Amino acid sequence: MDANSPHIKATHKPKIFNNSERFIEGWYWVIPSDNLGINEVKSITLLGRKLVIYRGQDYQVTICDAYCPHMGAHLGEGTVEGNELRCAFHHWKFNADGICVEIPCLDEPLSLKLKTWPTVEKYGIIWIWTGEIPRESVPFVPELEFQDYEAVLGSSFVINCHPHLIMLNAIDTQYFQGVQVLDIGFEKQELNQNAIIFSKYKRQYHDLPFKKVFRPLYKNPIYSICYWYGSTVTLTVGTDLRRCYLMLALRLIAGEQVEVQTIFFTKQRKGLLGWLFNRLMLWLSNSLVQELIRDERNILQNMQFNLKNPIKVDQSIVQLINHVEMQKPLMWKTWLLARSPETEVKETQTKWRDELTND
Ligand code: FES
Repeated sequence: MDANSPHIKATHKPKIFNNSERFIEGWYWVIPSDNLGINEVKSITLLGRKLVIYRGQDYQVTICDAYCPHMGAHLGEGTVEGNELRCAFHHWKFNADGICVEIPCLDEPLSLKLKTWPTVEKYGIIWIWTGEIPRESVPFVPELEFQDYEAVLGSSFVINCHPHLIMLNAIDTQYFQGVQVLDIGFEKQELNQNAIIFSKYKRQYHDLPFKKVFRPLYKNPIYSICYWYGSTVTLTVGTDLRRCYLMLALRLIAGEQVEVQTIFFTKQRKGLLGWLFNRLMLWLSNSLVQELIRDERNILQNMQFNLKNPIKVDQSIVQLINHVEMQKPLMWKTWLLARSPETEVKETQTKWRDELTND
């Protein structure tokens, strides 16, 4: 790519990207699994919405709205009985589907339902889907989809910026070319309707005259990043012998901050040597994250993102913004659709595709 190429037109501001009033319907990390024992109930606030989470006797996790449909008592004060949750105020009881199963002063419970949310436990984390029915899976590292792997939870921390700024930083070609002095350009691939991959292959591969013919020989990119639901990032870095896999599960919190949970992955390896090698790879992955965050933290926290004059080398960033703008937007706190999918979303998609897409 040529940094002196003409500008890409950017006459419309994104409506979802870097907007702290909106987020994309999808899977979001809630808390580490170990932080919720059997019969334990906790109050949480996620993407502005008050929720309650509990683990029943059968070890299943339920996440429901925080306020009792009778009179609005906070169910975080309630108690878990078997696999059900009893409100602390008038002792109405709700099962794991949210159905009211007991009202102590009535012979039969009323036909009403407490709002519950799809929940999954994976990688030692509890995840929630912020809509009715999950359309895609919990984020995964594409290269490990059909492999046996080991997942280890890393640290969680807060940065004073929008999650999207952390995301775009990982594919900022100018940054890689100018600051990191790497020849890095990305190939884009839609993994599914909610996930997009940007990959960098070996230089030799790009120099080959018939690269499609030789693609099987250079199957794995040396740098590959996958964005899920505009919030979770998986990163694969390295040669076939030493590959680091990691996930940054991001979520917007109040005050335009992002809360980050790191998760590290290695392929499963047998024996003591395999175990030692995996420890080394996990340590390398953790070092990679620490370095990335340390180098960028101040820039990200003091940035006022406004892509007014994108040039051709900003192509991957524009593609990422386009992808985010195509997703289903929900409103912070209410989790309601930000606008009608039939009208305004369609209009926005058209504008961004016509005027910012550069591929
Ligand atoms: S407020 Fe919950 S049972 Fe009355």
